Amino acid sequence: MSEQGKRVAFVGAGNMARSIIGGMLGKGVPGHHICASDPSDDCLKEAELLGPIHCMQDNASAVSNAEIIVLAVKPQVMGSVVSELAPVIAERCPVIISIAAGITVASIQEWLGHAAPVVRCMPNTPALLGAGATALFASTAVTAVQQSNAEDIMSAIGITRWVETELLLDAVTALSGSGPAYFFLLIEAMAEAGEKLGLDADLSRELSIATARGAALMAAEGDVPVAELRRRVTSPGGTTAAALAAFSDGGFEDLVDTAMSAAHQRAAELAQEMG
Ligand SMILES: NC(=O)c1ccc[n+]([C@@H]2O[C@H](COP(=O)([O-])OP(=O)(O)OC[C@H]3O[C@@H](n4cnc5c(N)ncnc54)[C@H](OP(=O)(O)O)[C@@H]3O)[C@@H](O)[C@H]2O)c1
Repeated sequence: MSEQGKRVAFVGAGNMARSIIGGMLGKGVPGHHICASDPSDDCLKEAELLGPIHCMQDNASAVSNAEIIVLAVKPQVMGSVVSELAPVIAERCPVIISIAAGITVASIQEWLGHAAPVVRCMPNTPALLGAGATALFASTAVTAVQQSNAEDIMSAIGITRWVETELLLDAVTALSGSGPAYFFLLIEAMAEAGEKLGLDADLSRELSIATARGAALMAAEGDVPVAELRRRVTSPGGTTAAALAAFSDGGFEDLVDTAMSAAHQRAAELAQEMG
């Protein structure tokens, strides 16, 4: 069964929750199957604009008859939110989907007081436009149907992929979680370099963004490997070859490796601190 027949409650109706809800409604999930709770009136008003969903301030009411609960609050408040919900959901044992960065399955289960079925996800910012990349990890108590339900929900905001061990979510954080910022940095750096070469600031920024979008679209087509795409725009002795040689001389690949290792290490540290 897909998530279309299940009652889904979102605890926290912020940016990420609203993106997922919008995507679900767009996929045809009936609004009356979706509940969202948040202390902020403004958030709830924005959520209500998405479609005919149930919105309320009380988390316990929102989850009271949900079969799937999506925890979409900030990591800092996750402990108190989950501990408060524990007695409300103890007997029904719904599947819990957490999108909070750095909050482990073990922490959620500890706050709930039992080894509940938990799916932990790591989405990224482009999810806000439906162009996200989300990795998911399922705890042992999660059934195949619940896994499928979780995948249906998260696919409302982009591609979904499962990882076999929870630790791999730290690697995902270093790659796709933090990754949008790496591309933003490159876009910024290219736009600044274009300005130094005499281009107007707006023109340089527009060309830089359009180039990133075009290259990503070509890479996403998937029928030609990315390395081959790069070779095809690199004529021997040409301008691209000159630029790529400068990247290589500057240790570009090593720098990317070092940067992602730093993000990976920080993700592991944060997970420990949050736990
Ligand atoms: N945005 C991203 O790109 C991204 C990427 C990966 C993972 N995530 C994860 O997604 C989660 C949500 O992020 P977001 O960007 O959507 O944050 P957000 O816009 O700040 O949404 C969180 C919402 O939770 C509400 N909230 C606070 N305390 C609450 C409580 N006790 N009960 C119910 N709701 C409560 C907040 O209300 P107030 O504003 O009134 O406090 C806010 O509306 C975070 O855990 C984050 O780690 C986000």
